[in-house]
Amino acid sequence: KLPVTVYPNKDIASVKVAERIAELIRSKQGTGEKAVLGLATGATPVGVYEELVRLHREEGLSFRNVVTFNLDEYYPMPPTAPQSYVTFMNENLFNHIDIERENIHIPDGTLALEDVAAFCLNYERLIEEYGGLDFQILGIGRTGHVGFNEPGSAPNSGTRLVTLDDLTRRDASRDFGGKENVPTKAITMGIGTIFKAREIILMAWSGKKAPIIKKAVEGEVSGEVPATYLQLADNVEFVLDEAAASEL
Ligand code: GLP
Repeated sequence: KLPVTVYPNKDIASVKVAERIAELIRSKQGTGEKAVLGLATGATPVGVYEELVRLHREEGLSFRNVVTFNLDEYYPMPPTAPQSYVTFMNENLFNHIDIERENIHIPDGTLALEDVAAFCLNYERLIEEYGGLDFQILGIGRTGHVGFNEPGSAPNSGTRLVTLDDLTRRDASRDFGGKENVPTKAITMGIGTIFKAREIILMAWSGKKAPIIKKAVEGEVSGEVPATYLQLADNVEFVLDEAAASEL
């Protein structure tokens, strides 16, 4: 059964997750090895990033030995757009820590369509070159997507171009000033990419996520709810606030 940890609220939960990441980063310092983090966007991980920034500023946590791979990016998407995941990561984390720019990887929303497949293969290859992801953080969309692996995603899928679900585009419409402005596609790490991480934490806060969390944790494993695939991983943990766990 999937391990689920419930905290009274998202602030406490976020600090706990950030502490685990900080511990991983510190454990690699002086070894010559890098800590390889898989990062997520959306409202869910913002508190984790805030705590990591605080640990950097107030407790001297350095990110010079950290390499990051973000899960996904809209396609097409210029990095400078306010809605890009590049902008999100810069504003919420990267601009406030001492990570080397060359160690940051985010799928490229500016590629020509014919170059996307090669880019995706190279993204997978780069992760492997660094020895694989040590720690992957995930949110969950209301369709049950992780990254942008929408219903229908295969359990062994790799990084690729996908079509966004209508509900996902509706949920993103506020950021874009209307659903019609939300890109129809995205580049995302696959379920298979995520599975290779040595540790996976899926976080969810608020009662809005309670129904999909129930499906992800207790539902039948199926491509209809891609997060159910995580039931098959042995290195995964769900970290929830009380409201997100209220239907379990
Ligand atoms: C987007 C991201 C996902 C994220 C999801 C949930 O679709 N691609 O990685 O998990 O939104 O967003 P939020 O955390 O804002 O609820």
